[in-house]
Amino acid sequence: MQIGPYQLKNRLIVAPMAGVTDRPFRMLCKKLGAGMAVSEMITANKALWTTQKTLRRADHSGEVEPIVVQIAGGDPAMLAEAARLNVGQGAQIIDINMGCPAKKVCNVAAGSALLRDLDNVGRILEAVVAAVDVPVTLKTRTGWCRETKTALTVARMAEDAGIAALALHGRTREDMYRGEAEYDTIRAVKQAIAIPLIANGDIDSPQKARQVLDYTGADAIMIGRAAQGRPWIFREIQHYLDTGALLPPPRVDEIRELMLGHLDELYAFYGEYSGCRIARKHIAWYTRGLAGSNAFRQAMYRLESTAEQRLAVADYFRRLGDETERLTYVYDDNDEMGHEQ
Ligand SMILES: Cc1cc2nc3c(=O)[nH]c(=O)nc-3n(C[C@H](O)[C@H](O)[C@H](O)COP(=O)(O)O)c2cc1C
Repeated sequence: MQIGPYQLKNRLIVAPMAGVTDRPFRMLCKKLGAGMAVSEMITANKALWTTQKTLRRADHSGEVEPIVVQIAGGDPAMLAEAARLNVGQGAQIIDINMGCPAKKVCNVAAGSALLRDLDNVGRILEAVVAAVDVPVTLKTRTGWCRETKTALTVARMAEDAGIAALALHGRTREDMYRGEAEYDTIRAVKQAIAIPLIANGDIDSPQKARQVLDYTGADAIMIGRAAQGRPWIFREIQHYLDTGALLPPPRVDEIRELMLGHLDELYAFYGEYSGCRIARKHIAWYTRGLAGSNAFRQAMYRLESTAEQRLAVADYFRRLGDETERLTYVYDDNDEMGHEQ
């Protein structure tokens, strides 16, 4: 999989997720097998560029190349400026967000709201591609609604504008995250364009990854929610694509060490107060479905310091059983998160 001058080590990409794919998470996923990871979106609104949140999102120090920064907005000139600024700060690939259905984003005619104004889509693609010397990629959905799927039109516009790769989520804006992603549109788009196509939506296992790659003919796949609390899914998928065999679940001690390392990175990145709060959701994802995890989470949510939180996690894994054993998901009836997906 090649994007501009960057030859990725494989076809597995971490989907951008605001509030999730921060630098510690991206680095962890890359370490565990992802070929590329897209940053959380950075707004094109200049007024917000000095907020702590945006500054953190633009911090890529120590990250494995290529550094991909996603920008979101609705105004071509502002997006072009945001692209230039981020390249100045180390971005090696700029990704334009035309897929986010969030109200906060759509109300300002950005994200997937752009799909209702194709003239503006064209202006944005041209302005951003012209603004920077690095590859520009586009992430979008199949359309605004099922009646008017614009994916084919947008894909051709992207190719004509010089977009280096297209990521397509098999849902419309109106679908939000409901129902199942469909891959027919992704397959049709793949047949219509020559630039690399990345398939996205509901890929949550090695077998599903294989199916989606085969069915759509996509050059790569992008994984979001299934990597939450399971960043090792990338090596599991790669192993399956390479050998046709499933890896056994990871060992308890490996996941304990991996989690504690992740927590340390989060604490260092966000500091004591935010670090403790942001780590909570990752801990909840990691432990979902494991024995006794519901009670553990309730207690863990109440802890207010990173030191207590780290100790609680280490202790939970000690109680989980023999550390040389494989991780076992039990999805007990009391585990409300076990049934979430
Ligand atoms: C919590 C969360 C945050 C997201 N933030 C972004 C974002 O900042 N930019 C974007 O293009 N998509 C965003 N998405 C959409 C994902 O990139 C992806 O397209 C979607 O989750 C479908 O893939 P999946 O089924 O593998 O999760 C977000 C999704 C989630 C769940």
